[in-house]
Parts: sequence; C-alpha cells; structure tokens
Amino acid sequence: MSGRYEGKTVAVTGAGEGMGRAMALAFAREGAAVMACDVNAAGLEATAAQLGTASGSIASMIVDVRDEAAIEAFAARAAQPTGALDVMICNAGVKGDWGPLAQQPREQLDLVIDINLKGVVLSMKHALAHMIPARSGVIINLASVQSFRVGFPGAAFYTASKAAVVALTRAAALENGQFGIRAVGIAPGPIDTPMLRSGSPDWPPPIINDVPLGRIGHVDDIANAALWLASSEANYISGATLTIDGGWLAP
Ligand SMILES: NC(=O)c1ccc[n+]([C@@H]2O[C@H](COP(=O)([O-])OP(=O)(O)OC[C@H]3O[C@@H](n4cnc5c(N)ncnc54)[C@H](O)[C@@H]3O)[C@@H](O)[C@H]2O)c1
Repeated sequence: MSGRYEGKTVAVTGAGEGMGRAMALAFAREGAAVMACDVNAAGLEATAAQLGTASGSIASMIVDVRDEAAIEAFAARAAQPTGALDVMICNAGVKGDWGPLAQQPREQLDLVIDINLKGVVLSMKHALAHMIPARSGVIINLASVQSFRVGFPGAAFYTASKAAVVALTRAAALENGQFGIRAVGIAPGPIDTPMLRSGSPDWPPPIINDVPLGRIGHVDDIANAALWLASSEANYISGATLTIDGGWLAP
C-alpha cells in the first residue's frame, strides 16, 4: 500500500457492509483516518475488525442518514483528527421493495427517497460545512446505472432516487468548485453485495448475461475507483458520474 491517504480524513456512510465497507477499508489501508457510519452496529464492528494492520484507522458511529443532527455530528467527528474533512462518501442506500408503480405503497416512496435522496443531501450539506472553510474537499456520491437506464420494471422509486443523485452531484460541483471542492458520482452496475444478493434468488443473477465483461462486479472494483476519484490524479474531474458496470450500459 502506498499510504497515499496518510493525514487525510474520510467519512463513509453505509459502511456496515457491501461497497461502503470496501471503501472504508480501502481508504484506511491507504493511511486515512476513516469515520464510518451505518444503522447496522454489527456490520460496523465487522468492518473495523477486517482492517487488521494498516497505517490508517477506522472509527465508527451508528447513524441513520435520515437524522440530520446525527449526520452533522458524524461529519464533525470525521473532521476531528485533523480539523478538516477531506473526503465524504455518500454511499448509504436501500433498494426498497420493488413492484408496479400503480400498486406501490406510500411508505416505500418515503423510505427510498428519505434514504437515497435526502440522506445524500444531508450528508453533502454537513460535509460542505467543513470543506468550504478549508477551501478543499471531495464528495463522492453513489448513484447507479439505473440513474441512466431504468432497466427493470418495478424499480421506479429507486431509479428516480438514483437519477436525482446524479443531478445533486452536478449541482454540488457547480456551487462549490469556487471553493476548490469537487463532487463526483459513481454509478455501479451489478456488484456482489448483500443488496444485490437480497434481490437475487439465483446466483449469479440473470443480469450477468447482459454484462459484456461476463461477470458480476466486485466491491473492490468500486473501492479502487473511489481511491482514484478522491485523489489528486482526478483533480479536474467534477460534476461527472463514472459508470462502473462491466459494460452493462454500453448497448
Ligand atoms: N450492489 C449493487 O449492485 C448496486 C448497484 C448500483 C448502485 N448501488 C448503490 O451503491 C450503494 C451501496 O450499495 P451496496 O450494494 O453496498 O448496499 P448494501 O445493502 O450491501 O449496503 C448498504 C449499507 O447502507 C446501510 N444503510 C441503509 N440505510 C441506511 C441509513 N438510513 N443510514 C445509514 N446507513 C444505512 C446498510 O445498513 C448497509 O450497511 C447504495 O447506495 C446502492 O444503492 C448498488
């Protein structure tokens, strides 16, 4: 490991499993002081336990991204080690129960929008409170290939929430470039996480047939991209959302 994030602070929401866990581990292995949050306490413990020996660290906090006071405290704690928040990764998300739009209960709409859209807004807002005075910072939002292509019937709320994340990323980039802050998105295709497995009785799921590279993505495919997007090598990238999908969106 290069230690390229030594001296940097990184906050990751939804780090109790899946891609959030992989990103928290990747940044800590590169030397960052990572602050991880999730609603799943056991998941957070497992994330920290997987770090082993590394030059960085993972501290964690139980936070529901729908709770603004908790997110505010989370961002403040993430900035504590150095007084600055270098990277905020807005990753927490839910799939919701998919079903025909005409029959979807209001509760599903509220759940998906409150977490996937409002949760990202709150996480960005309280990260910016630390980044703007420092005139520096990177926000990474987890969108989806479904931001760009609905793909499957029954996914209206999830798709809408993830399309909004792309727009929010661009809005944040527009407003905050003047402060030296970049906002970027990652749009994963099918990645092997508990979320994908929860919706896939068969494994590998049939979507694999529509992936030109012929495999389901690994969480490290996303974590490696996040490491690069947050780095100075990606210094001129802002407002863009990077598709990482084995080619699923290509046709
Ligand atoms: N897995 C995929 O194929 C895929 C594809 C495209 C986009 N995504 C998106 O990538 C992100 C990560 O997905 P994943 O597959 O790792 O999901 P996952 O379900 O495996 O992990 C998501 C984590 O977020 C946490 N979380 C959920 N609601 C929360 C809340 N209100 N507050 C705090 N934490 C909360 C969960 O407890 C969980 O630990 C999500 O935003 C998801 O929508 C996933």
